[in-house]
Amino acid sequence: MRLSLLLIGLLTVLAPAQADEIVSGSTFLSPELHRQQDDPTRNPAWFWVDQGRDLFAAKPSGGGQACLDCHADPATSLRGAATHYPQVDPSSGKLLNLEGRIEQCRVERQQQPAFGYETAEMLSLTAYIASLSRGLPMSVRTDGPAQPFFEAGKAFYERRQGQLNLSCKQCHDGLVGQKLRGDTISHGVGTGYPAYRLEWNTVGSLHRRLRACSLGVRATQFDYGSPEYLALELYLAGRAKGLPVETPAMRR
Ligand code: HEC
Ligand code: HEC
Repeated sequence: MRLSLLLIGLLTVLAPAQADEIVSGSTFLSPELHRQQDDPTRNPAWFWVDQGRDLFAAKPSGGGQACLDCHADPATSLRGAATHYPQVDPSSGKLLNLEGRIEQCRVERQQQPAFGYETAEMLSLTAYIASLSRGLPMSVRTDGPAQPFFEAGKAFYERRQGQLNLSCKQCHDGLVGQKLRGDTISHGVGTGYPAYRLEWNTVGSLHRRLRACSLGVRATQFDYGSPEYLALELYLAGRAKGLPVETPAMRR
């Protein structure tokens, strides 16, 4: 209730902002949290990156090839990979994000049981591989086979939903820079995920963040890796084109 009253207040007081230049969520962190994020000795998310690096090099328990056996010199061979996800998998025609691609290698190429979304293993490997693209500009494809997914994501982003009847766009375009429950509303691009969130006390995926926003407006929370959130992720990545990958970020 308090949230909805606050929002109605915000939405009626403010004239709709013009779509201004899109910037990273880090821009809106408090100076102290920003410093902590940028200091690898104080940003706990680097622990997940280190675990991911170890896991990448380890043989699966039942034997077989390590990720590293096929992906030699990952700092070079996988640098930039994260900037191209989500992307359409040519063999299945499905939209895959980085988590989906890793799971595909795990199951089809390592012949191991799936890690599962939001497991420590998946978060560590995703954080590690995304960290190899730090500083490189997001450059997903939104045309060709990706276009229908991008359009679906855009429609989701612009649709009012939940008991509060708010779209993503109303907050992440219309109310950027405004305070909401101690947060400063950003453009919602998500270029720092997986990220360490103080509220979670751990690292979480972008889809976990999306579930939190869905809950915030009392709308349906879709599953981790659901087609709805994948399409939304592609739209966000398309909006973020040119912004650098910042994984692993810290957030409130
Ligand atoms: C048996 C060999 C093999 C193993 C083991 C393997 N992969 Fe792969 N991986 C591949 C091949 C082949 C591709 C497709 C390369 C391409 O698309 O050009 C690929 C693609 C990828 C990509 C996408 C790269 C890009 O530029 O889009 C990622 C990320 C990845 N693998 C991560 C992993 C991880 C993490 C593991 C361990 C859990 C792993 N792979 C295990 C062979 C392997
Ligand atoms: C009531 C306003 C509101 C709505 C509606 C909303 N969000 Fe958010 N969202 C927030 C707040 C507040 C945060 C935390 C501060 C920030 O980074 O913007 C946040 C964070 C995010 C982030 C993380 C940004 C980062 O860099 O850490 C993403 C991505 C995001 N939202 C996407 C969405 C999407 C997609 C939707 C629609 C399904 C949505 N949000 C709906 C308020 C909202």
